[in-house]
Amino acid sequence: MEGESTASQVRPKLFFVLTCIWCFCVVLSTKTEKVPPTKGHPVILVPGDGGTQLWASIDKPATVHYFCREKESWFTLWLNVEDLLPGSIDCFVDNARLVYDNKTRTTSSPTGVNITVVAFGNTSSVEYLDPSKIWLGKYFNAIVDGLVAVGYKRGVSVRGAPYDFRKAPNEAQIFFRNLTRLIEDTYRINGNRKVVLMTHSLGCLYTLYFLNRQSNPWKAKYIQAFAPISGPWAGATKSLRVAISGDNVGDFAVHASVVRTAQRSWPSLNFLLVTDKYWGPHEVIVSTQKKNYTVNDYREVFNDMNYEVGWEVYKDVRGLVYDLKAPGVPVYGIHGRDVPTEEFYVYNEERPFPDYEPYITYGQGDGTVNMRSLKAYMKWQHEQPHPVSEFEISGGEHVHILQNATLIKYLINTVLHLP
Ligand SMILES: *[C@@H]1O[C@H](CO)[C@@H](O)[C@H](O)[C@H]1NC(C)=O
Ligand SMILES: *[C@@H]1O[C@H](CO)[C@@H](O)[C@H](O)[C@H]1NC(C)=O
Ligand SMILES: *[C@@H]1O[C@H](CO)[C@@H](O)[C@H](O)[C@H]1NC(C)=O
Ligand SMILES: *[C@@H]1O[C@H](CO)[C@@H](O)[C@H](O)[C@H]1NC(C)=O
Ligand SMILES: *[C@@H]1O[C@H](CO)[C@@H](O)[C@H](O)[C@H]1NC(C)=O
Ligand SMILES: *[C@@H]1O[C@H](CO)[C@@H](O)[C@H](O)[C@H]1NC(C)=O
Repeated sequence: MEGESTASQVRPKLFFVLTCIWCFCVVLSTKTEKVPPTKGHPVILVPGDGGTQLWASIDKPATVHYFCREKESWFTLWLNVEDLLPGSIDCFVDNARLVYDNKTRTTSSPTGVNITVVAFGNTSSVEYLDPSKIWLGKYFNAIVDGLVAVGYKRGVSVRGAPYDFRKAPNEAQIFFRNLTRLIEDTYRINGNRKVVLMTHSLGCLYTLYFLNRQSNPWKAKYIQAFAPISGPWAGATKSLRVAISGDNVGDFAVHASVVRTAQRSWPSLNFLLVTDKYWGPHEVIVSTQKKNYTVNDYREVFNDMNYEVGWEVYKDVRGLVYDLKAPGVPVYGIHGRDVPTEEFYVYNEERPFPDYEPYITYGQGDGTVNMRSLKAYMKWQHEQPHPVSEFEISGGEHVHILQNATLIKYLINTVLHLP
C-alpha cells in the first residue's frame, strides 16, 4: 500500500498513542449509549499489504548512520511518515528488512530487531496507520465508523486481525491460530452469531488460505460470509516492478532503489507476483534491451537483477493459493474499476534495468491490481454451492475505495442485511 500526502515534523510519542486510544473510547461510549446494539453479524477486518501498524523494539550492534537509533523500545515502525524521508529512510530500511534463511526457508528480522503487531482483536491498529497523525494514513476507519453508527462496538462486534504483512501465509502460523481463536471468541461474545470476514487486498489472499484449511463443519458454524475488497487473486504486475526497481512508497522524496532493499526482502511481494494461470506465456511483462520477460521468466529476472534469494522465496510462496480453491462460504466480492493500472514495463538506455524506474504502460484495473486478477475469484460461482457475487465501483481506487460511501452502504445493507 502507498503512504500518502506530506510529512510533518511531529515524532510519534506514546502520549499521542494514548490520546488516540482515549478518543476511540470517548467515541465508543457516546455512540453506544444512544444506539442499541444491532442484530447484525459481528465483523472481523483483515488488512492488506501495509494496512496495519507494526511496532518495533531495537537493540542493535551497529547502525547504517550515526543518526539512526541503536536502542529504543517499542516505537511505530510502520507507519511513521518522517521515517520515510531522505536520510531516516535508511534507518527504516535497515530495521524493516527481513533476512532469508535458505535452510529453514523462513525469514526473520536482523539481529537486535523485534517487530510485532499490536492490539490484536481491536480495530485501532487497522483504522489508522500512523497513530501520531490519525488524519494521515486513514485505512479501515470509515468502515468502522459506518458500523459503529448502526450500533456496532469496537473490539466487541467489529474487530481487527492485524498480521505482519511483510511475510507470506506460510510464515503466519501463529496469526492463523490467533485468527481461529478470534473468530470463535467473537461468535461467542455476540450471542453465537456467525462472523463476517471483511478483508482488503493481501488480506483477501491470507483469508482464502485460512478458509481453505478449515473444515466445512467449522466454517458452517462460524462464518456467515467472506467480503473480500480489492483482492489481488492472481497477483499484480506492479509487484514485479517493485521487486526489480523498488517503489518510493507514494510521493516521498526518496529514490525507489533505496527502499528496494527492504521491499525485495519481504516474501509477500513474491507472493503477489502474477501467476501463469492468468498471464500467458507470450505476454511480455518486462522488456529490456537484452530480454523480454514473461510470467515464465521469474527465475531469469531474479538472476539478472542479482537477487537470487528472490527466486528461492518465490518457490516457497508461489503455490500457497495458486489454485484459488473456493473458500466454501458465501462470498461478496467488491472491487474498483476504470482506474489506470500499470501492466507493462520498458527499461532502456535512459532508464537501465534494474536500478531505474521503467517506462510504464497502463491498462484496466483499480490502480494497483490488474482487472483480470480482481475478477479471478468469480470462477467460484461454478465451484461451490454458496453464492458468489460481484460489486464493482467505477473509479474505486485500490486503497481509497475503503473510504467510499457507496461501498460502506453496500457492506451494511447487502453484506450485513441491515437497514
Ligand atoms: C526481542 O524479543 C526477545 C524475546 O521476547 C527478547 O529476548 C529480546 O531481548 C528482544 N530484543 C529486543 C532488541 O528487544
Ligand atoms: C544458502 O545460502 C548460503 C549463504 O548465503 C549460500 O552459500 C548457499 O549457496 C545457499 N544455498 C542454496 C541452496 O541456495
Ligand atoms: C482493546 O480495546 C478495549 C476497549 O477499547 C480495551 O479495553 C483493551 O485493552 C484493548 N486491547 C488491546 C490489546 O489493545
Ligand atoms: C497472537 O495473539 C496474542 C494475544 O492476543 C498477541 O499478543 C500476539 O501479538 C498475536 N500474534 C500474532 C502473530 O497474531
Ligand atoms: C521484445 O519484444 C518486442 C515486441 O515483440 C520485439 O520487438 C523486441 O525485439 C523484443 N526484444 C528482445 C530483446 O527480444
Ligand atoms: C464512490 O463510488 C460511487 C460509485 O462508483 C461514485 O459515484 C462516488 O463518486 C464514489 N465516491 C467517492 C467519494 O469516491
